[in-house]
Amino acid sequence: MSDYRIIAPFYDWILYPFMRGIRRDVLEIVQDLKPGRIIDVCCGTGDQLRLLKRNNIEAIGIDLSDAMLKVAGKGKGPVRCLMQDATAMALRDQAFDLAMVSFALHETEWEKALSIFQEIHRILKPSGNLLIVDYALTAATSSAARTAVHVIEYVAGQRHFNNFLRYKRKGGLERLIDPRCFVPVEDRFHGQHSIVVRLLRKRTESQKSEPQRTEDRYDNNAPL
Ligand SMILES: C[S@@+](CC[C@H](N)C(=O)[O-])C[C@H]1O[C@@H](n2cnc3c(N)ncnc32)[C@H](O)[C@@H]1O
Repeated sequence: MSDYRIIAPFYDWILYPFMRGIRRDVLEIVQDLKPGRIIDVCCGTGDQLRLLKRNNIEAIGIDLSDAMLKVAGKGKGPVRCLMQDATAMALRDQAFDLAMVSFALHETEWEKALSIFQEIHRILKPSGNLLIVDYALTAATSSAARTAVHVIEYVAGQRHFNNFLRYKRKGGLERLIDPRCFVPVEDRFHGQHSIVVRLLRKRTESQKSEPQRTEDRYDNNAPL
């Protein structure tokens, strides 16, 4: 994945002012949950992992970008990250108590985002938790924030922008999350209601059935 080669060394510096509050919210939720094994799926530079580590919480990350992983492995607080594809993780079933995925779903092809959900469901223990951070543009989002999000995604490149537009058109997280697989626990909003930190719990009763793909659950041609 070459998308992050240029931006990776500056990624945390550029995003710090926007991400600080979100990272702290994630830390707070993790501290409350006190999970055993934690994984940050699509961990990027490992910024969230580093904050957890500074607070004595051990976790691992996986990402596909060598440039982002290089940053994660450097600096004052290197964190443990593996190069793996989130759509096909080489990790045991039901191995984790908590999976986190932040700002990766909106920029991924819709089919891949669905596969990431299936994989997260597979590697989570029964009643394990999923913590998602991503765009949630709704009527409550201010128009300034909505415009800013579109500008950021446009600047991120054509592929990112197209995937973001598809994510938005398809209904974003509301469509990606299969309610038969995950139960919502808590939402915290940031960026004038443009970003959600969403905590979910894996449904125990759905253990035996595979998560159903969104395309099977919804009429793909229905207007959104
Ligand atoms: C916008 S960055 C977010 C990074 C980090 N989660 C954060 O909050 O700063 C998205 C990350 O998702 C990673 N990614 C996208 N698709 C992936 C996949 N299929 N498997 C693993 N990582 C992936 C990218 O390499 C990138 O590092």
